[in-house]
Amino acid sequence: MSENSVITTFIERVKTILREDGESPAGFERIGDEMRWLIDHRDEVIDQQEPQGNIHDRRQSAPLYEDESGLTLVRASFGPEELTPIHSHGAWGVIGVYQGSDRYQVWRRNDTGDGDGAASVELVEERILGPGDVALLPPPPQDIHAQQGHDGETAYEFVLFGRNVMQLPRLYFDPERGVAEEIALNG
Ligand SMILES: [Fe+2]
Repeated sequence: MSENSVITTFIERVKTILREDGESPAGFERIGDEMRWLIDHRDEVIDQQEPQGNIHDRRQSAPLYEDESGLTLVRASFGPEELTPIHSHGAWGVIGVYQGSDRYQVWRRNDTGDGDGAASVELVEERILGPGDVALLPPPPQDIHAQQGHDGETAYEFVLFGRNVMQLPRLYFDPERGVAEEIALNG
């Protein structure tokens, strides 16, 4: 399959799942299976010459797919130098690591807020994701996470978001100060 047909097939299957199961645990589980299929076809999708970027800075390359429904498929990489800020994108997402090793932290917001200002968050899980591993970013406001390349390696991954995160502000959380700050990506 060509790059385009792999991505087109993946997106069509995801849309079918969302029609059938919605943004539900069962739906996300099925989308996770499709993400594993996409990882299996990574060589048909990835042009190694294409610049990659950390999704948290402005070097992020253009999405592999986006449309008016909000579904957005990106590639991201996370170096081993430092953990990203604790943050959310304002969208559910499914992460699929296709190369390297990812120290992946899941954070939970314990107050009733969903925006910036006072915010209480705690680390609930840290795990290491390797090639073929998939993780779910739950719907907002609990789509809070931090990532870092693990064991001296850069992690490379696909991330499918339910909304166009290239256009949404993000929240950066500071657990010490108990605050969330809104960050405009294109600001
Ligand atoms: Fe992120």
